[in-house]
Amino acid sequence: MSVITAVRLTSVNTPRSTGLVCGHVIVEIDTDDGLVGVGEMSDFQHLPRFHVDVADLQRSLTAMLVGLDIWAANAATRVLEEAFPSAGSLYDKGAVIRCGIDIALWDLRGKVSGRSVSDLLGGQVRPSLPVAYPIFRQRTPADIEANLEVVGARLAEGFTMFRVYVGGRLDLDEEFLRALRDRFGETVQLKSLDFSNLLDSTQAIRFIERTIELDYALVEAPARAGDLAGLGEVRRRTLIPVSEHVYDGAAGLRLAAAGAVDVLNVGLFALGGLTAALRVISIAEAAGLACLIGTTQELAIGTAAAAHLGVTSAAATVAADPVGPLLYTADVVKEQVEYRDGSVLAPSGPGLGVEIDQHRLAEAAGPLQWDVGATTNIVDRVGRPS
Ligand code: LMR
Ligand code: MG
Repeated sequence: MSVITAVRLTSVNTPRSTGLVCGHVIVEIDTDDGLVGVGEMSDFQHLPRFHVDVADLQRSLTAMLVGLDIWAANAATRVLEEAFPSAGSLYDKGAVIRCGIDIALWDLRGKVSGRSVSDLLGGQVRPSLPVAYPIFRQRTPADIEANLEVVGARLAEGFTMFRVYVGGRLDLDEEFLRALRDRFGETVQLKSLDFSNLLDSTQAIRFIERTIELDYALVEAPARAGDLAGLGEVRRRTLIPVSEHVYDGAAGLRLAAAGAVDVLNVGLFALGGLTAALRVISIAEAAGLACLIGTTQELAIGTAAAAHLGVTSAAATVAADPVGPLLYTADVVKEQVEYRDGSVLAPSGPGLGVEIDQHRLAEAAGPLQWDVGATTNIVDRVGRPS
């Protein structure tokens, strides 16, 4: 037995190099044997634009979890899913909350047993997890050159795989993609065009047909949210593999049953942590689909959890998306998660293998708030250029 004695939440704000400031909640769970498990509710800067009341959330989670044995994983999952049921959407703050607690509990189980989370998940099937670096959506003509420079800089660091957000200004998207191939040729691998559900499938197909010779491996979310028939249409018309985010097991099952996708995008933030992600990976395996480990762009704790999942999941054959540690200019851990040759390494443990630096945590701590400046739309799921 290892019994939970306290749940502590600390809200933090961390800027990205783009200027966008993202809010997260760092989770610390204490046990009666003196261990502390760490988790992260990552990047609340998703729609819808409201923040949780962190003090109230801490009181609720304390009431739910204190007294529970960390090995009573089924009970913890049930309590969390009852309190924070799936909202049936990618923009589910309840899933982000469950994720923070779930990964802290996995961290604790690893720490108490002296094993890494990768070990608890059954052991690594690959030494590290290849990742794709995101190129954010072109909003103005000036973004094209700026983003080409980002690609050049990342290539020099060993990243060859990129995910390009498209679907806002399609003229600029096309210009960027052509310029990318002109400048870098085949040294750049385009893992995907990420449409973020901004276009309907007909518009997406038209864009894909215009740009297909630019050689990308995958299209992400090339239809309106929830349009399974549209996704299937893109697959069959363009013959480019399609991926889509999954926000709960039922959604994964629907995507698989409808033949809508080739790849399930498994994001811990969207599903509610490792426990929920494992269910979706099982669905993918049964349906013969591949997975990619998705992201909201986590700090080190969330990225470590994603890395442990990715290196232990045989179905996760498509390059993953978490690169938060490369985007944020601040974090709360002592040693950052390591990227090597375009792959992220799962820290060696015990547990998640990352440790909070209390000084850094205090420096980043502060009330969650929306940055309403010009940078807010850099991550623009609503996508209409201003
Ligand atoms: C990010 O924070 O960069 C991502 O969550 C953006 C997205 O929604 O794909
Ligand atoms: Mg995000």
